[in-house]
Amino acid sequence: MSDHSLTEYLNTAQEVARKAGEMVKEAFYKEKDLMTKESYADIVTETDQAVEKLIISLLHEKYPTHQFIGEESTAEGKKVEWTDAPTWIIDPIDGTANFVHSIPQTCVCIGLSINKQMVVGVVHLPITGQTYFASKGGGAYCNSQRITVSKVKDLKKSVVITEAGNSRDPKILSTKMNNVHRVVEASHGVRMFGSAAVNMCTVAEGKGEVYFEYGIHIWDFAAAGIIFTEAGGVLIDPSGGDVDFLSRRVLAACNRDIADQLSPVLTHIEFDQD
Ligand code: IPD
Repeated sequence: MSDHSLTEYLNTAQEVARKAGEMVKEAFYKEKDLMTKESYADIVTETDQAVEKLIISLLHEKYPTHQFIGEESTAEGKKVEWTDAPTWIIDPIDGTANFVHSIPQTCVCIGLSINKQMVVGVVHLPITGQTYFASKGGGAYCNSQRITVSKVKDLKKSVVITEAGNSRDPKILSTKMNNVHRVVEASHGVRMFGSAAVNMCTVAEGKGEVYFEYGIHIWDFAAAGIIFTEAGGVLIDPSGGDVDFLSRRVLAACNRDIADQLSPVLTHIEFDQD
């Protein structure tokens, strides 16, 4: 993979994310039609579906042999098939609940993997005008600004970001809330911004020290994942092992010290793979 083609993929992903963002922004200020998926809190709108179709058609036109993994195509019954082929991993609106409730932390996520390694990522927030992006080896940026993670090495001096997520299964919820309780005791506090990708990009730019979540999907954090590692962060499984984008859980820390202090505080929740 030459740097030249990575730059071209990154430019295309940014261009497509901005076009998709215009559609999200237009719909943001209007009434939204809600549908639900796995729980009453797992919501989707017509805009999610239309934006995903737009992204896939623009990318397919340019790269007809590339594969796609999209949140809404998967919800419509398409199984996640992640191969070594160049694969665009798309969340048309991450932070759908924020979008529905007019909270600006909502974003378009477009990532590209080759040989199952993330090589390009764009997270575009059309309401706030922030575009986070990275390509392998090229560093991470927000708009024109290079971004890097926090240098704090003590969990007691850290802000931790997580989410309650979309599952309303009582056992899962109570494990997550117990985790939050223990993390609050061990740190400066916990924040929840309502979008996995926004959470990860926030830590990538040195605001807060670590984000973890159980129950997310590959499309929620694939694009943000490469932005995070290019910003100098450590992306691992919450138990301390290698990150697995299909395992539905992640820990994104500003450094290994923070990851090693947070991991034993958490009860690790298992999910079926994506
Ligand atoms: C959700 C958001 C949310 C996280 C959920 C995700 P969606 O994605 O990222 O913050 O807690 O786990 O599913 O449904 O808004 O694309």
